[in-house]
Amino acid sequence: MEKIKYQLKENAGKVILPENLGFGLVFTDHMFEMDYDIKNGWHNPVIKPVHNLSLHPATMFIHYGQSIFEGLKAFKTVDDDIVMFRADEHIKRLNKSAKRMCIPEVDPEFVLNVLKELITIDKDWIPTKEGESLYIRPFMFGSDPILGVKPASQYKLIILLSPVGAYYPEGFKPVKILAQNDYVRTVRKGMGECKAPANYAASLLAGEEARKRGYTQVLWMDAIEQKYIEEVGTMNIFVRFKDEVATPKLTGSILPGVTRKSVIKLLNDWGEKISERLISINEVIDEYNKGNVLGIFGTGTAAVISSVGWLTYKDIDMTINNGEPGDLALKLFDEITGIQYGRKEDIYNWLTYVVKQGAEVL
Ligand SMILES: Cc1ncc(COP(=O)(O)O)c(C=O)c1O
Repeated sequence: MEKIKYQLKENAGKVILPENLGFGLVFTDHMFEMDYDIKNGWHNPVIKPVHNLSLHPATMFIHYGQSIFEGLKAFKTVDDDIVMFRADEHIKRLNKSAKRMCIPEVDPEFVLNVLKELITIDKDWIPTKEGESLYIRPFMFGSDPILGVKPASQYKLIILLSPVGAYYPEGFKPVKILAQNDYVRTVRKGMGECKAPANYAASLLAGEEARKRGYTQVLWMDAIEQKYIEEVGTMNIFVRFKDEVATPKLTGSILPGVTRKSVIKLLNDWGEKISERLISINEVIDEYNKGNVLGIFGTGTAAVISSVGWLTYKDIDMTINNGEPGDLALKLFDEITGIQYGRKEDIYNWLTYVVKQGAEVL
């Protein structure tokens, strides 16, 4: 693989972050960009100032959506180290998504190194208030200027960095969810298990309708039988029944979340009975009526854990754990964020160090 070229911003100046960062509104000084074509493979890796792209209006992904992305985070720890959470898993998923969308895969070790270099260059942009982090957005897209439906022969990989605010600035608050079977997000054997923009586009209308009715997110059901719960908004879902914690098994329409994988590992190690299986909405309702649903929560990079306080399906309204976050959800949130911010020991080696004890780790 070619060496990374550096075209760093001159007079970058002191970084002044806004008081409220929000999500994906602020970008650091630099981005990574690399090209692919059939003759050269992936080539021309450059770290350069964030800039507008110049694309021909026929650029393939704009028309046919051949594009994928990832989302992961870097943190400034309590010891002033800089770490990424499970970067290797996110890079693995980037390549799995790429494969499904006929996009050429990238060398995982090279991309991990790029992330370390890029974050080191823009390290002053990592926010340090409670719950804040640096969101990392790698994405790939077909860039040939051709209006034919076929896999592109040219691609770009770009990585952006965005300092983001705390997901729970006012504390860990449960959300109100609408179980949805007017629309589906994805279907088995489709693209649900890859992080493709089209899946998010497919979710927008249902999300808007739910929001208009006062709900925060949609609980997606499987597209074939329309009865098995799959994901909540852009998170994986877990249901704490009386004798078991269950999460939908990965049937192909569900994104295999890195937080989901981490939660399963923790619950196993804590001695909980954890099952990956089909969970029908009727089972949730029946067990709720028997008083056996002790908690429901979503898992994802953005929120880590999001407690579901209220769930509606058709004309059935359920209040979960009196609308309070469950103790297991809180314990998981505390454990994972504890590891991310260096308050707890990283016994699973989930962290990739970018800066350790003041020294860059390259
Ligand atoms: C559709 C969807 N499901 C689940 C997740 C959670 O995945 P992860 O824990 O890897 O962030 C995300 C977010 O990335 C998502 O977009």
